[in-house]
Amino acid sequence: MAKIVGTITTSHVPAIGGAIAKGLQADPYWKPFFDGFPPVRRWVAAAKPDVVVAIYNDHGLNFFLDKMPTFAIGAAAEYRSTDEGWGIPTMPPFAGELDLSWHLIDSLVGDEFDVTTCQEMVFDHAVTLPMALLWPEQKWPVKVVPVCINTVQHPMPSAARCYKLGEAVGRAVRSWDSDARVLILGTGGLSHQLDGQRAGFINKEFDLQFIHSMVGDPKWATRYSIPELVRLTGTQGVELVMWLAARAALGDGAVRKVHTTYHIPISNTAAGIAVLEPAG
Ligand code: DHB
Ligand code: FE
Repeated sequence: MAKIVGTITTSHVPAIGGAIAKGLQADPYWKPFFDGFPPVRRWVAAAKPDVVVAIYNDHGLNFFLDKMPTFAIGAAAEYRSTDEGWGIPTMPPFAGELDLSWHLIDSLVGDEFDVTTCQEMVFDHAVTLPMALLWPEQKWPVKVVPVCINTVQHPMPSAARCYKLGEAVGRAVRSWDSDARVLILGTGGLSHQLDGQRAGFINKEFDLQFIHSMVGDPKWATRYSIPELVRLTGTQGVELVMWLAARAALGDGAVRKVHTTYHIPISNTAAGIAVLEPAG
């Protein structure tokens, strides 16, 4: 059966793509952010994943306000990245892992998560940039299965529901008849608000407690409703449900913290990274 080697959770911000394109990694504004990633890449090199299950929110590239699946899973042989209006370069295509896509879909629907299946999908900054931070040469050594959670338009699934989705993703991966090593990647958050009177809102105290909770008290943030998370973390801070779903995929066993960083701000966003692996 397939093995989950660990989870990487990270913020995604389009401006990272501009910084990569311009080679600004050593620039004073960007250095503290990019410096968070060499330890992550060292862990990835040792963990040797074959497949990435990427849990993220689409930002209007696949699904717009007229058609908004709560949960969607890609089942494509290939995923392209395409211009979403930020003016950041697109990236080489990503190979899909069709067998795992359909196994995940079967397993999740069996588990009463009635996901939308997408045999065509394109990737926005929420997948391409975290992937480029893990593999800067952009020669992807892994296949990808995307899992999208709506955090763009209300009503959004609750944090508790996203945690349960992540648990179901974990069960599905562990029951996949394959010897593949699977990395769960969750992208979004942490606190940020892009528009309105609170644009620029960041809640460092909440974010640090949230990162801390990921190791030993992973359901901590599931006590909050979506309106409470908006109040605590900003309108786009709700993207932190991707971290919850990714963490939940590790299951109930003990978890070891490999690496965390927290840097504010990148653009309007509190940029966090956490790498967790099953203990023992
Ligand atoms: C920003 C953050 C996001 O999560 C996003 O999807 C777009 C922009 C930002 O801070 O600029
Ligand atoms: Fe986002």
